[in-house]
Amino acid sequence: MSSNIEAFIQILLLFLLLPSSICQLSLEALTPNRPIKDGDVLVSSTQIFALGFFSRRNPQHRYVGVWHNKVPGQTIVWVANRDNPVNDSYGVLSINGDGGLVIHGKDRSTPLWSANVTLSSPPNFTAKLLDTGNLVLIENGSQRVVWEGFDYPSDTVLPFMKIGLNRRSGLERRLTSWKSKDDPGTGSCTCGIDPMGFPQLFLWKGREALWRGGPWIGEKWSGRPEITDNGVYNASFVNNEDEIYFMYDVPTLITRGVLDESGIFQMFVWNDRWIKFYSYPTEWCDHYRQCGPNTNCDPDKQLACTCLPGFESKSPRLSVGGGGCIRKAGASTCQNGEGFMKVARVKIPDSSMAHMSMSMSLKECKQKCLMDCSCTAFTNTSADEQGGGVGCVIWHGDLMDTRTFSNAGQDLYVRVDSTSLAQYAKSGGSLSKKARLAISLGSAVIVFFLLLTLYWLVRMKMKGKRRQNKYSFKLTGGSTYFEEAIGGLALDDSRINSELLLFHLNTLATATNNFSIENKLGEGGFGSVYKGILYDGKEIAVKRLSKFSGQGIEEFKNEILLIAKLQHRNLVKILGCCVEDEEKILIYEYLPNKSLDSFIFNETRRALLSWTRRFVIIFGIARGLLYLHEDSRLRIIHRDLKASNVLLDNSLNPKIADFGMARIFRGEQTEANTNRVVGTYGYMSPEYAMEGLFSIKSDVYSFGVLLLEIITGKKNAGSHKGYPYSNLIGHVWELWKEGRVMEIIDSSIGESYLVSEIIRCIQIALLCVQELATDRPTMLAVVSMLGNDAALPSPRQPAFLLKRMSPSRDPSSNKGASSVNDVTCTIVEAR
Ligand SMILES: *[C@@H]1O[C@H](CO)[C@@H](O)[C@H](O)[C@H]1NC(C)=O
Ligand SMILES: *[C@@H]1O[C@H](CO)[C@@H](O)[C@H](O)[C@H]1NC(C)=O
Ligand SMILES: *[C@@H]1O[C@H](CO)[C@@H](O)[C@H](O)[C@H]1NC(C)=O
Ligand SMILES: *[C@@H]1O[C@H](CO)[C@@H](O)[C@H](O)[C@H]1NC(C)=O
Ligand SMILES: *[C@@H]1O[C@H](CO)[C@@H](O)[C@H](O)[C@H]1NC(C)=O
Ligand SMILES: *[C@@H]1O[C@H](CO)[C@@H](O)[C@H](O)[C@H]1NC(C)=O
Repeated sequence: MSSNIEAFIQILLLFLLLPSSICQLSLEALTPNRPIKDGDVLVSSTQIFALGFFSRRNPQHRYVGVWHNKVPGQTIVWVANRDNPVNDSYGVLSINGDGGLVIHGKDRSTPLWSANVTLSSPPNFTAKLLDTGNLVLIENGSQRVVWEGFDYPSDTVLPFMKIGLNRRSGLERRLTSWKSKDDPGTGSCTCGIDPMGFPQLFLWKGREALWRGGPWIGEKWSGRPEITDNGVYNASFVNNEDEIYFMYDVPTLITRGVLDESGIFQMFVWNDRWIKFYSYPTEWCDHYRQCGPNTNCDPDKQLACTCLPGFESKSPRLSVGGGGCIRKAGASTCQNGEGFMKVARVKIPDSSMAHMSMSMSLKECKQKCLMDCSCTAFTNTSADEQGGGVGCVIWHGDLMDTRTFSNAGQDLYVRVDSTSLAQYAKSGGSLSKKARLAISLGSAVIVFFLLLTLYWLVRMKMKGKRRQNKYSFKLTGGSTYFEEAIGGLALDDSRINSELLLFHLNTLATATNNFSIENKLGEGGFGSVYKGILYDGKEIAVKRLSKFSGQGIEEFKNEILLIAKLQHRNLVKILGCCVEDEEKILIYEYLPNKSLDSFIFNETRRALLSWTRRFVIIFGIARGLLYLHEDSRLRIIHRDLKASNVLLDNSLNPKIADFGMARIFRGEQTEANTNRVVGTYGYMSPEYAMEGLFSIKSDVYSFGVLLLEIITGKKNAGSHKGYPYSNLIGHVWELWKEGRVMEIIDSSIGESYLVSEIIRCIQIALLCVQELATDRPTMLAVVSMLGNDAALPSPRQPAFLLKRMSPSRDPSSNKGASSVNDVTCTIVEAR
């Protein structure tokens, strides 16, 4: 009886399900008389991958692609006809009369895409989708693969997909980005292997290199030291006369590596959602040739760029950006007592012009380089069983794109003249034993956590979904891997919600003594900031956002999640957030040294900031802002950059604060409008103050104002009695025109400064505060201008927001209303 009912229900269910199974045919193989029509799917044998027609932005454009079949959301990993979509719903993928794979639309006369297989024999072929995601065309008799989709990657690399070059056929397997997030057309960024010299991994945009992964050194890329073959992540590199390729695999986990349209490569692991495991480039120093020839980019140094030993900067002090370094004047490095100096923990220089020999030992390599006066550096390519160096790479000419890693990297031996050699020996040069021990311990710890985390992920995956939300791991790029996961566990009153710490309101109320006035540190454009002490003694800064934002809770959390990923040495670190009872609170690291305004506008404290220190601060702010604008994955407009939003750490290095409620621009957006102008009087660009229009250029304006304030020690919006113009910009502009700009430099800078450098900075500031947003440079240009000595354009008339209104020369007649080139407006003051 009951089994009858069951059977009935089953039949009923079958009927209910039938329509959809009729609509969508699932095939396991494609044969000459079994093509795939739009709507059908071809599945791999264990159904991990599926192939079929899909569309993105434009529903009329149908593409044939492969996607992850067991992961929700149709993650496309391969596209066939990416530049020739079918524009109707009659698309067909078939094996044609010649045995080749083709895609047609309604018009069957000319294929829209062809795999270009031309075979003389009759069509005796089968196409299959393998469980790796590879679409293959197989000859029936011999079972020989005559064509495979993995030879033509789109923007995604999958396990067992080769990236590289077939030296015999000339076939080059490179990742090529999509045109945009929702247009699979061929984009401009590629990722592949450059076979020249000592072969290297590269990311290119068109023909320009964006990032260099460096050569393969045993088990990893020189420029990607965190990722090693550790049994969980397993990679191989093959270089012989037939081919050169790289291939990876992470058994039991679903992974994919994607090159996006802006040229950033990201590796993802599936764990209920796609988690970013790492990405490149991430740091400033990752960008190709960031510092120019013969430099080393060290992210832990104040100005990042330093000259390699034996070289000096072309300009007296600024070696940052492009200009690079040259051999020390008068130094002879040919048969004149020269030697080598070790530069430790680096990504070795661009090796596309380098010479290599695999059989030489490190000693022989040194000898060879020493004998050859044009040899500039050498290193070994691998280690022998005893840990000694073998293999030899030798560079001639300029050394390009070297950078330091904090706990990984190789040793590079750079040729130096005898004088430099002696100086170096005296100063004790190489690292102390203690430091070396610390470094090797550090890298051991990192490798350990990498392994541990992968292990956890594998375990969790096996345990199923029950407990997944309890443990999540932050997997980000660069060297900041597990900071959050480890650091977070110390604060037990909060739980780890994916990548951000969620604090309870109670905890924060206790920590800040109920948001008491005594704990209040200040007031920003978006709310008040309090100092807090967690029960474990950790000091935090708590920002209670004012309730205006009107943002939903989910929206807010999403935004904070994005912001939490921002990591830069010149940004204050966000530790977490709290969303409870209408409250929206951000928790930042606490910096005891207060903000920049308490130095530059203070009669006694300003003397603590020499010109060199001020330049370090200026450059740090520029780099932090550049990171917000361009280098992070998001485009963030700060909107309230000012002296009081720049905090100084213990060593007086700047950290930009209060970017937490800044505006995030997604994709191509570069400009937005707001009804609510928040920001600070004196720092707001004219288009923002008057029209509510903000863009990265309104931040550039604020930066310009800040720059002038740092140089002069005067507030832009303060009272400037006796000046013909009531603000600093106007005053500086007048002096600039008259060539008397030296008069306004803060006298407490001392005599130690280089006049030309300060004038250059003033000129850069004036370029930043130009009236028209389009005339102002981007932060990328600003950083480069600060860093080299190339000629600067002449600034045009700046925007005088507070130009006096009355014809009389009395600056005090100016309150609230002001005019900009005869347009009168009211300044919106939001604090
Ligand atoms: C579709 O494509 C065919 C050939 O590629 C073209 O002739 C036709 O005009 C297109 N139709 C539309 C609606 O774009
Ligand atoms: C097939 O050949 C055409 C013309 O040479 C070319 O445009 C197309 O990219 C080739 N297809 C593949 C999959 O390589
Ligand atoms: C090739 O093999 C497949 C099955 O493997 C079969 O369905 C197909 O008919 C064969 N093709 C020819 C032309 O024999
Ligand atoms: C296809 O291959 C089979 C062997 O696998 C062979 O018997 C058959 O003759 C071939 N068909 C054609 C049309 O060549
Ligand atoms: C993983 O390691 C095994 C054994 O060392 C090797 O045979 C295999 O090719 C590796 N897989 C990849 C993708 O490199
Ligand atoms: C080069 O040799 C050193 C020992 O001198 C070794 O520790 C290092 O791992 C070698 N480099 C590479 C890339 O294997």
